[in-house]
Amino acid sequence: MSFARSAIASTRAAVSRSAGRRAFTSSTSRRSESLFVHRDTDYNNPSIPFEFDAENLKRAHEIIARYPPQYKKAAVMPILDLGQRQNKGWTSISVMNAVAKLLEMPKMRVYEVATFYTMYNREPVAPNFLQLCTTTPCQLGGCGSTKILETIESHLGIHAGQSTKDGKFTLIEVECLGACSNAPMMQVGDDYYEDLTPESTIQILDALAKGEKPKPGPQSGRQTSENSAGLTTLTTKPYGPGAHCQPEFQ
Ligand code: FES
Repeated sequence: MSFARSAIASTRAAVSRSAGRRAFTSSTSRRSESLFVHRDTDYNNPSIPFEFDAENLKRAHEIIARYPPQYKKAAVMPILDLGQRQNKGWTSISVMNAVAKLLEMPKMRVYEVATFYTMYNREPVAPNFLQLCTTTPCQLGGCGSTKILETIESHLGIHAGQSTKDGKFTLIEVECLGACSNAPMMQVGDDYYEDLTPESTIQILDALAKGEKPKPGPQSGRQTSENSAGLTTLTTKPYGPGAHCQPEFQ
């Protein structure tokens, strides 16, 4: 999205919010031309060295070995992910170049992949990288992702797309993360925090700020995504062939 278009979208979202509602298309995540265009900066330019460390190089070769030798470039996505993890959670131009060199493929082919998939962060992120899902099921589930977004923004004093001044948190909005039955939810690093309420969200943020790792998963007491109202089916003794085999009814 161009800067002008993103500014218009931002204004519309602000108007909508001030009117007490939130437009379905007002996502503020990553609205920057930097999504597609690389410009050399003092912290992101090809002269900054990056090499896979010994452990990751070993893992990279294990990944590459899963593909036929003539198709080693097919490993570009997991190898980019490996590079991003080693580079403190973001994929710099030097990481992309190192991946291209390792896989013996044109740099441009790696840039194309890294700029297409949003899982590759093209700017530095904080250790606590909050990805809040604001797609429709999360917007409608539980107290709604809008409430969670407002909670995070006011508690951390930032807006989506920004990092806190102390460098502990980065917040972005993302599309569906595949945990809709436990909406609303957010991803922190590799962990999912689900069934969020404003209270549980603040508890998670405070624990993360202290360097703790709160227990991932549903924050409501659910084990997974079972019915929060309890069992509503299969509550009576089964009948028919094989029913006697079910130990709980013997
Ligand atoms: S809509 Fe949020 S996880 Fe699917």
